[in-house]
Amino acid sequence: MPSALEALVVDRYPRSSTYDPQWIVDNLMGPHPLWSAEGLMQAMTLEPGMRVLDLGCGTALTSIFFAREYDVEVWATDLWVDPTENWHRIQQAGAADRVHPIQSDAHKLPFAHDFFDAIVSIGAFNYFGTGADYLAYLTQFLHPGGTLGVIAPGIRTAPAAALPPYLENRWGPDLCTWLPPDWWHQLWHRTNLVTIQTADFLPNGWSDWLLWLKTCAKVGRGYKPDEQMLETDQGNLLGLTRLVAQLN
Ligand SMILES: C[S@@+](CC[C@H](N)C(=O)[O-])C[C@H]1O[C@@H](n2cnc3c(N)ncnc32)[C@H](O)[C@@H]1O
Repeated sequence: MPSALEALVVDRYPRSSTYDPQWIVDNLMGPHPLWSAEGLMQAMTLEPGMRVLDLGCGTALTSIFFAREYDVEVWATDLWVDPTENWHRIQQAGAADRVHPIQSDAHKLPFAHDFFDAIVSIGAFNYFGTGADYLAYLTQFLHPGGTLGVIAPGIRTAPAAALPPYLENRWGPDLCTWLPPDWWHQLWHRTNLVTIQTADFLPNGWSDWLLWLKTCAKVGRGYKPDEQMLETDQGNLLGLTRLVAQLN
């Protein structure tokens, strides 16, 4: 492992730290996916044998992580990433018996109603889950009492009329979906479908995201616009929104 990547082995995320940082960097699509997954699990429980939908799994690293760390069976579901590529990654990680790659749009899921014990989504829910009718659609696939857990880029409070310049410069359709925990809380609460257990900012979310971007930059895989934005913001507005809710 290049020595620059040693910064990705941290005590805060003991489970993630057992995975090869090079493998994680090679398959990155957003903030460190395993740190986000481990951060979600500080507020959510998965029991061995559960059927779990990992929605917007990207390169399926989180699906492999959930299966290996929590002994659950995972349907690794994503739109953009080729499921054959994910299948190879899953096989190479020794998780072929517990992780099933599926290509699907989150709005047209090919699953039976009531099938899943839990649904997780890391760094993706903001792409497809902001509609007022989406929670009602998605929770059809969860059985009553099942849990939904989300980590997504977020903003601490709804932007005021004037954005700070570092956000103004980077503002666009993607940042518009970086929404506050309270916003999601309201959206979900008004459905009367779920009991919300957590709607907060992941502790250390912004600083770990920045550490991740800086470290990736050292091996040519950084993303300067977000690194500069997080550096300037210093956790004032930006971070990772964490949501956990149980289906009534
Ligand atoms: C930033 S990537 C994050 C991937 C991965 N979860 C991670 O943390 O590395 C966002 C993912 O959302 C998925 N996505 C976006 N729109 C989607 C949709 N309508 N249905 C399913 N997945 C979608 C994309 O395919 C992409 O892999």
